[in-house]
Amino acid sequence: MIETIHPARALNGAVKLPGDKSISHRYAMLAAIAEGTSKLHNFSTGADCHSTLGCMQALGAGVEKDGTVITVHGVGLDGLKTPAADLDAGNSGSTIRMLSGILAAQPFRTRIGGDESLSRRPMGRIITPLAQMGAIIEARDGKFPPLTIHGAPLKAIDYALPVASAQVKSCVLFAGIYADGVTTVREPIVTRDHSELALQDFGAEVTSIKGAISIQGRPTLKGRELAVPGDLSSAAFFLVAGTLVPNSRIIIHGVGLNPTRSALLDFLAAGGARIRVLQLAEGSRELSGDIVVESARWQGGLMEKSVTAALIDEIPVLAILGAASEQGLIVRDAAELRVKETDRIATVAENLKRMGVEITVREDGFEIPGKQRFRAAELDSFGDHRIAMAFSVASLIADGPCQIKDPGAASVSFPEFYQLLRELSA
Ligand code: S3P
Repeated sequence: MIETIHPARALNGAVKLPGDKSISHRYAMLAAIAEGTSKLHNFSTGADCHSTLGCMQALGAGVEKDGTVITVHGVGLDGLKTPAADLDAGNSGSTIRMLSGILAAQPFRTRIGGDESLSRRPMGRIITPLAQMGAIIEARDGKFPPLTIHGAPLKAIDYALPVASAQVKSCVLFAGIYADGVTTVREPIVTRDHSELALQDFGAEVTSIKGAISIQGRPTLKGRELAVPGDLSSAAFFLVAGTLVPNSRIIIHGVGLNPTRSALLDFLAAGGARIRVLQLAEGSRELSGDIVVESARWQGGLMEKSVTAALIDEIPVLAILGAASEQGLIVRDAAELRVKETDRIATVAENLKRMGVEITVREDGFEIPGKQRFRAAELDSFGDHRIAMAFSVASLIADGPCQIKDPGAASVSFPEFYQLLRELSA
């Protein structure tokens, strides 16, 4: 499949985005091991979160889908069953890494794997703490999926994360649900806290003090009715597009604004983007609100350390903004980009080069001069959802129509993306 994207004269309108991918995964997993029924509204339409639902169903939880409302019939902490076949996490690193924490505590053996991209993603980071807790995990070459997880009664641990990763933190906290005491995870820099909030929503005792997050083992988790806010990482494509394309004004309704995710808004605003939060919704641990973005000249920026970690998923689309900005974009401390769905430093650089845009690549980041023009080109998603969408945004400001190979990769997190983009440019 090829998607042709034409340069846009303006982007105007209002959009509502599918539910946040990170939050949807966590609600699905916790609902499955809670007692009773959970109703999850505005659940992510992305394939990744449906991989998680498929896994929870294969493990014995009841799952009913009615559009974006998902009903999960939980089986309780000790109710999961040996799946009839290997679990399939598809393209989803979040599914395999977070679910492994739960699987490590089960009185049975599970095999979990996924597609070709997932099979290249590092799993040593979860195997190490789960082995310390008492599980035995076999992996291809000791570190890649598929994983064979021999569950065991787990010991509580106090674990300092060697890499800032919310997936690894969540994996250990989810294993901690089953451990005999208090499990603590220490993070070098703050990462998204959706697991902490979701665990509290379902009834677990979780504390977070100065980067040390602790969970009391064997909580009683109870089914809940929860609404998932729109995905800020999906909104990022429209925030950048709305900034770049002249005469634009886009309203994005009901976007997640959890402070551990919203560094994107600060980074864009610091460079001169015209973004306002119109209205904050109340009544849920996860903050959300409406955002409006209007075209602006972006000055450029330097991203490093904890800011890089907080913006890691948004870097591909920020690279586009950087090249069109006044002073360019420097990204440092982003070695994690090399082990995402693709090596995103390499796939961003390759597509930029095809568009005639200059970039200097470093091992853990890149430098992109500003004031560059984007030539029409044949682009490739390389099977990576965020690369597909980032270069769709680049195509909007190219000097002619661009073709994107394998655009369907976007459906991993945002199946409605091209349709919404068409509606905004109409
Ligand atoms: C996620 C954490 C991040 C992020 C990923 C989703 C999560 O990954 O890049 O898209 O939901 O916890 P890492 O934990 O590998 O940093």
